[in-house]
Amino acid sequence: MMKTLDPFEFRLSRRQMLLASGGFLAAVTVPSGNVLAQRTAAESAKELVFRTTDPRNGEPQLEHLVQSWLTPTKHFYVRSHAPNPQINAADYRLQIEGMVRKPTSVSLADLSQLPRQSVTATLTCAGNRRSEFNAEGKVGGVQWEAGAIGNATWDGVALADLLKQAELLESAKHVWFEGLDEIPRGHGTIPFGASIPLEKAMSREPIPGALLVDRMNGTPLTADHGFPLRTVVPGYIGARSVKWLGKIIVSDRPSPNHYQATAYKIVAKPEPLDWSEAGPIYRYPINAAICTPAAGAKVRAGNVDVAGYVLPTGRAAARASSVHVSSDRGATWQPAELVGKSEPFCWQLWRATVAVTESADQLWVKAADQTGGFMPQRVAWNAKGYLQNSWYRSTITVESSDG
Ligand code: MTE
Repeated sequence: MMKTLDPFEFRLSRRQMLLASGGFLAAVTVPSGNVLAQRTAAESAKELVFRTTDPRNGEPQLEHLVQSWLTPTKHFYVRSHAPNPQINAADYRLQIEGMVRKPTSVSLADLSQLPRQSVTATLTCAGNRRSEFNAEGKVGGVQWEAGAIGNATWDGVALADLLKQAELLESAKHVWFEGLDEIPRGHGTIPFGASIPLEKAMSREPIPGALLVDRMNGTPLTADHGFPLRTVVPGYIGARSVKWLGKIIVSDRPSPNHYQATAYKIVAKPEPLDWSEAGPIYRYPINAAICTPAAGAKVRAGNVDVAGYVLPTGRAAARASSVHVSSDRGATWQPAELVGKSEPFCWQLWRATVAVTESADQLWVKAADQTGGFMPQRVAWNAKGYLQNSWYRSTITVESSDG
């Protein structure tokens, strides 16, 4: 196991921050054991609502999400299956093996020789909005509300560039990722793993299909988000963006790792036949939520300002085409205004001023995108509580306008 700088965040002096701003090479210059820094666990507890603390699983209050198109790292959800592994950047090496002519291992300095890429992409957990399934039947897992989503700028290199260097064999079809975390399972531990089809890994349009990333929102990845290196796979559920990346294996089949082969599937019943029949989830579907007013808020009858996010289907061409809000449980719908940037694989923010009567008790939102994606009225319950993207309903208490 490699050494860490701090259990939750690594800390950098001003000089090392400057060095680190150069990317992979600079990350190697951070001496191990140095204490600089970013944020303590207690501080981050104020910015995120932790559903579990060991491992760390936290989401922001929804009102933070509509303050900016780019989600500040402190308000970016954290989803981990085990404690953060302790990694010393200076010793770090990434293994590349399997169906390649040149299996190898590379340091962060080696990676810095490849062309740098900077992309903005939304990451969302397949379990975002999971807790809404409980109304129909209890689902296990982290009880996410609608905050397991965020939009960040990621800097690193295209996975395709590294794979080209390793020289793919004809038989190559899938790219497996393995993290350096140790997740208790059975009598031992397993790493978090995932895989993506080779076509996705090699795609470039309009941004790389997958990246190896060392920086998030302009600063080195924090330990919570995968320091020193993670994958980011724009358009796919967050589970395919493996943190603390230790190994890449090129294969002719999808990864047999539990998190690819069994978990992260839509199954009506948690039984062997259902697991075998279901395929792994890759691309996320369109989703949207109301972020303000906060769920449970008291509002005065009259015109109410409503704001939220919409994430189009995870395809390059998908842009939000419409967002509609209702204050009368779907009897009438009012179009919302899409605001700010609309970029491939990114969410868009929206706002609306909605007439709310004293009898209203909920605000609803639904959305559609340009590739035919739409939020359905209802999503079938599934045992793991994934991909909840039905019309989002938020409860409000309305006070009379003259009260
Ligand atoms: N990578 C590793 N190594 N271990 C993990 O537990 N969680 C995955 C993914 N990558 C995970 C991982 C899941 S389920 C999600 S949704 C995203 O990381 C969350 O990324 P974040 O914590 O940076 O928001």
